[in-house]
Amino acid sequence: MKVTVLKLSLHGQLVGYLAGFQNGKNVFSFSEEFKENLSRPTLSLITHPAFPYVEKLLAEPWVRKQRLYPTLSNLLPEGALRELITQRLKVHIDNEFHLLSYLGNDLPGALIAEPMEPELVPDYILAPYGKVKAVLFDKVQLNNKFSLAGVQMKFSMTEKDGRYNLSDNNILGDWIIKTPSTKHRDVPVNEYTAMRLAQLVGVNIPEVKLVQLSKLDNLPPINLPDEELAFAIKRFDRDDGRRVHMEDFAQVLVKYPHEKYNSANYEQIGRIIYRFSGNGLVDIQQFSKRLLVNILLANGDAHLKNWSLIYADKITPRLSPAYDILTTSVYIEEEKQFALNLGKTKDWYSVSLAHFQSWAKSAGIPWRTIQSHLDDVMDKARSLWPNAMKELPMNEAHKLQLKEHWKLLHKDFRI
Ligand SMILES: Nc1ncnc2c1ncn2[C@@H]1O[C@H](COP(=O)(O)OP(=O)(O)O)[C@@H](O)[C@H]1O
Ligand SMILES: [Mg+2]
Repeated sequence: MKVTVLKLSLHGQLVGYLAGFQNGKNVFSFSEEFKENLSRPTLSLITHPAFPYVEKLLAEPWVRKQRLYPTLSNLLPEGALRELITQRLKVHIDNEFHLLSYLGNDLPGALIAEPMEPELVPDYILAPYGKVKAVLFDKVQLNNKFSLAGVQMKFSMTEKDGRYNLSDNNILGDWIIKTPSTKHRDVPVNEYTAMRLAQLVGVNIPEVKLVQLSKLDNLPPINLPDEELAFAIKRFDRDDGRRVHMEDFAQVLVKYPHEKYNSANYEQIGRIIYRFSGNGLVDIQQFSKRLLVNILLANGDAHLKNWSLIYADKITPRLSPAYDILTTSVYIEEEKQFALNLGKTKDWYSVSLAHFQSWAKSAGIPWRTIQSHLDDVMDKARSLWPNAMKELPMNEAHKLQLKEHWKLLHKDFRI
């Protein structure tokens, strides 16, 4: 049987080897140097030396049948973007090993995956499998490579003098451009408005902009609606051409993208942030504010992949800046729930401060360190949002719907 091997590295250090077999099986083995290095860069919180059972986890190879292990699978696009890339590559949409081999030079975060010359593959990687032959990855060269996770159509671009260009193979893009949707009306102005409102009440966000579609160069052929603007957000996993590592909470909790709504709750995320972050208190306060803001803005999409840890010093996790906050209720008929359980509820219109108190208690966070931050969000939302809305570019019908949503909230959160 033929096998292709990828070498995975992080900040110039060898992490390990991923072997992809013809029949879809794939095996990831950590290198000795990675396992033994106690000041190694963090690939995932689960590989951090302080994480419970880490040695056992690194000792055994990670074997999967079709999909890649969640740590890697979550680096790949879902939805329309995956369709677009696999069609252009002429491979099956589920062939994750091929996708990773192809996209490995511009993944989210700082991991790099490179196809290896067969003669450089260490013997011990393939020895357990008997008669296998390493072969070189058969690379189709397409221009304009990029890998971004998520569902929406989006591109990693570089900016120069107000124009945005799809980054070519050797240059890392530092803006994510989300083009407008043919399915839902005015998403870019919705996301821009929601992110700005979130910022006004203390949510930490990257630089965001609205960009004329006529300023985007070298886009692949995609269907666009009759709208003029795209949403642009500065990448926090890129810094002046350098990669900064990050991972989302599907990776942290070792879940697949399709499990993003149903396999965890906000208590679990909170507990992890509070315990492992380099500044647990500040990050959990920020997390609690964002939970409330998502309720106020009727964002039903704050699932596992919309929360990330960032490793700015290569080792220590911190909560990343916020992204993908928008008023989803204007697109989903009768939407009444947020994405994951908080104090055992998902219901926008019954959730109250008491649920947050119960959330803090079961996540092991002192309530007094949280309460004043939630009060502060409410004070600012009530005093700033009604006027700010007048200036922000959200579709007028959507603004009205958002204001209707405010009236229905529990009195603790009514605006
Ligand atoms: N500003 C950013 N910097 C770095 N990575 C980002 C940023 N915004 C989003 N991402 C990454 O890209 C993925 C998709 O972006 P997101 O805004 O969530 O789009 P979608 O609507 O498709 O879910 C996210 O899950 C996250 O990994
Ligand atoms: Mg998302």
